[in-house]
Amino acid sequence: MSQRFDPFSTEALDDPFPFYKSLREKCPLHKHKEFSHPLYTMTRYDDVAEMLTNIELWSSHYGQMPRYSVQGCLFSDPPEHTWYRKLIQKSFAPRHVASMEDEIAELVKELVDEMEKTSSGDLHDALACPLPVLVIAKILGIPTDDIDQFKAWSDAQLAASKSPNADDSKAPREAMNTYLLEQLNFRRSLLKDAGIDGEGDPEKLIGSIIPDDVISGILLAEVDNRMLSDTERLVMLNQLLVGGNETTTSLITNLFWRLLSNRELYEQLQDDRSLYQVAVEESLRFDAPVLGLYRTNTKEVNLHGLDVPERSKVMATYGAANRDPNVFKDPDTFRLDRELEELRKHLSFGLGRHFCPGAQLSRLEARLALKEIIERFPNLRLTEEPERIEPFLLWGRKTLPVAWD
Ligand code: HEM
Repeated sequence: MSQRFDPFSTEALDDPFPFYKSLREKCPLHKHKEFSHPLYTMTRYDDVAEMLTNIELWSSHYGQMPRYSVQGCLFSDPPEHTWYRKLIQKSFAPRHVASMEDEIAELVKELVDEMEKTSSGDLHDALACPLPVLVIAKILGIPTDDIDQFKAWSDAQLAASKSPNADDSKAPREAMNTYLLEQLNFRRSLLKDAGIDGEGDPEKLIGSIIPDDVISGILLAEVDNRMLSDTERLVMLNQLLVGGNETTTSLITNLFWRLLSNRELYEQLQDDRSLYQVAVEESLRFDAPVLGLYRTNTKEVNLHGLDVPERSKVMATYGAANRDPNVFKDPDTFRLDRELEELRKHLSFGLGRHFCPGAQLSRLEARLALKEIIERFPNLRLTEEPERIEPFLLWGRKTLPVAWD
């Protein structure tokens, strides 16, 4: 049965979940007719999981947005995708991320120290927004002085992603690329000064001649006897930056928004610190920071009685799948009494080959932010309703006004 739903409408932007519920029940594959090409929304858990794992049928080649774009690197299909994925494996390996815990806890503490100087403010501006940028900048190797500029480019690219005009994201992307290229060239000059031209054993050079960070790793990485071109290096770095910043900010704002909207939850966490992980995971399930991403089908398929022509854009709607009552009991309630293992079935980080490499990192950031704030601000409360961020396929707050005196 067809259902009235416009993914770009103000109502769907304000609160997509009632729409997802009715789509899941009555129209599990929805076609949005007012668009330049066939555009669909898939909402049931099993269908979304099948889409994400059947990558022969559901290709990432044409990008994750409603319009077609070919970025390559991680936004591609195997075997190309497998190759690029190997390159970033080490930087995001669970052990490597876990080893950053103290460093991230220190960054959180510094931000909360600043907050403590006053009695109220915006949790988005003071903590949720700067934290992921500081963390990713550390991992990549971006100097602290350049971070604000960095964040602005990253935001501008995301904001442009909802626009039908592909040119909107061009200027910030080019500015960011120029900057990243300078960072690559700086490392090249260090190698040259040390008398090393071109190739070398990364294990020996990284950490001695050039800094131990992802930019150096990407400069020297070699998989199957091939190194990256500069164009590829820039695409990879961009994908890491744009993919990781606003999403983690949203996780943190969504989490505090829900805990403070129902303060009993916040108090429950004050009494039982063992629930921090559950709270982060429940937030990811309940408020998917990426509501959904698109795939393109490689051949015509018939699904739920609809013929979906080849090369349609279909949204794998994680935010809807996460509230499917066939998988999660009482899905529309934020609860802290869920089992961690059950909760981790949520699809907020995707599934299968493209599963988010930054998942552990963002979970860690959110848990450390939660711990520091709960322990230091027992009276934390919302002072105004927060505002939603703009990009239609993302879900987070751009303001979170709070007081803590
Ligand atoms: C709460 C925070 C985050 C959320 C909700 C999130 C969500 C996602 C999702 C849903 C995907 C799957 C894309 C697909 O299936 O096509 C993904 C992939 C990706 N994420 Fe994240 N992400 C988060 C944090 C991060 C962080 C911190 C980083 C980097 C530092 C990152 C980098 C990436 C990259 C590079 C990919 C592409 C992987 C691939 O296609 O193989 N993400 N993310």
